[in-house]
Amino acid sequence: MPNDFLSFFLSWMSSPRRVGAVAPSGAALADLITREISATTGPILELGPGTGAFTYKLLKRGVRPQDLTLIEYGSDFMKLLQMRFPGSRVLWMDAGRLATERLYEGAPVGAVVSGLPLLNMSRRKVISILSGAFSYVRPGGAFYQFTYGMSCPVPRPVLDRLGLRAKLLDRTLLNVPPAAVYRLTRRPQMKLITGSVAPEVSTQARWETERDCSLAP
Ligand SMILES: C[S@@+](CC[C@H](N)C(=O)[O-])C[C@H]1O[C@@H](n2cnc3c(N)ncnc32)[C@H](O)[C@@H]1O
Repeated sequence: MPNDFLSFFLSWMSSPRRVGAVAPSGAALADLITREISATTGPILELGPGTGAFTYKLLKRGVRPQDLTLIEYGSDFMKLLQMRFPGSRVLWMDAGRLATERLYEGAPVGAVVSGLPLLNMSRRKVISILSGAFSYVRPGGAFYQFTYGMSCPVPRPVLDRLGLRAKLLDRTLLNVPPAAVYRLTRRPQMKLITGSVAPEVSTQARWETERDCSLAP
């Protein structure tokens, strides 16, 4: 992985809110956010790849270049990504428009890896990013988000509204600044359980809600 500190710092100087960090993520954070991803995960959507700190790690984990779609809004990072990852799909677009662009046929994505600075974004934007991203995620797939904050960067009302839950994957002190990674998944659906209670008594139906272990610290 090349040393990208200077180019990243210059991008941050020109657009601090969009870039959201003064330096690219380090190896420990790249390791953590990609920990549950392997060659068998299938198509992967990476949001806000910047200079590619997580992208390199994904490829190292055996992800095929053609399984990677990179969504980046910074034009400076765009050119770099196209040069560095010629075998992957690199799109210059706002992740807030995921729902309006049809990126895939159906919902084949096994994992979304996000370096987006969600804490710098409006709630409305966060909702459009998450709902757009999850429209491509297959059942059982996950959205991985890192944060420098002390709690989940997606507020509880947003998780509730979108039917998602968040779990702290882990924290790493070996990043500047220290960071945490959250795994967002769909909440389990309610199941309708039916069964006859007695021969002449009609079928009894009851709803069972699986335990909602929604929010991380
Ligand atoms: C904190 S940096 C993370 C870069 C890289 N993932 C890393 O960890 O080193 C945030 C990245 O998100 C990009 N970004 C910010 N808002 C975006 C948006 N709406 N759509 C796509 N990319 C965005 C920025 O240009 C920047 O590359």
